[in-house]
Amino acid sequence: MKIGIVTGASSGMGKEFAVQLAASERLDEIWVVARRADRLEELAQELKTPLRIFALDLTHSESIDTLKQAFSESAPSVHWLINASGFAKFGDFSTVSETDSLAMIDLDVRALVWITLAAIPYMEPGGHILEVASTAAFQPLPDMNIYAAAKAFVLSYSRALNRELGKRGVTVTAVCPGWTKTEFFDVARQNADAGAVKNFFFPSQPENVVRRAIRDAKRGRDVSVYGIFNKLHLFFAKLLPASSVMTLWDAMK
Ligand SMILES: NC(=O)c1ccc[n+]([C@@H]2O[C@H](COP(=O)([O-])OP(=O)(O)OC[C@H]3O[C@@H](n4cnc5c(N)ncnc54)[C@H](OP(=O)(O)O)[C@@H]3O)[C@@H](O)[C@H]2O)c1
Repeated sequence: MKIGIVTGASSGMGKEFAVQLAASERLDEIWVVARRADRLEELAQELKTPLRIFALDLTHSESIDTLKQAFSESAPSVHWLINASGFAKFGDFSTVSETDSLAMIDLDVRALVWITLAAIPYMEPGGHILEVASTAAFQPLPDMNIYAAAKAFVLSYSRALNRELGKRGVTVTAVCPGWTKTEFFDVARQNADAGAVKNFFFPSQPENVVRRAIRDAKRGRDVSVYGIFNKLHLFFAKLLPASSVMTLWDAMK
């Protein structure tokens, strides 16, 4: 059984990944993961490819056990793994609660690694892993300190894993969107303080980010950046010292 797996498929980019995989890939099933089962069920009505719904909170270890159990029972051939679940909270260390601070690490880093490790044994040559990072990965970001550090982890991890899995014919792509029009902001802005980011320059449409990411994965690229503004961001983040980029961020946010 040839499958794709998409986490965070109940909204935003994860949902769009499921839509585009269903439209362009011959898969027997797409396994979709998120907490909101009703959203995943709605999506299943819209797509031709059968969806297997996993209504799971990925910050809980038992949720990963559920996925591992499904792998061992179905022994699927995983052609696409897309880790798109994730969240941020805007604000400094004193504004973002301890619970949210640790949950960001649990979801954006720990669950992503754990699901990747669980899926790798089921991946065939020609398979693709897409780990959704962010342009936040390119430098430290005050008032998004844990989120930016978590995404820096995802970027670094994905690029190194791509080298390791290249020997097995599997590609790993770190997808680095800039601001993108999704529900991300509804979550990130809750309880944000006055100093938090307020300017969201040149936001992208999720379908464009996702189309580009799928194309880059098929080309074997280890990093996918959509849009000229985000490419310029990467260029300057490489060129300038991190302290200068943080000063620019503070001035622009
Ligand atoms: N939008 C942006 O500007 C932007 C920019 C750069 C990177 N990103 C990254 O892109 C990825 C997708 O985000 P998005 O923009 O599409 O935002 P979104 O619309 O808020 O989607 C986030 C997804 O993650 C899922 N999720 C959140 N907490 C979860 C949990 N505990 N367990 C399981 N699933 C959970 C949500 O589903 P449920 O709520 O149903 O669980 C939802 O499907 C994230 O990794 C985000 O960090 C976003």
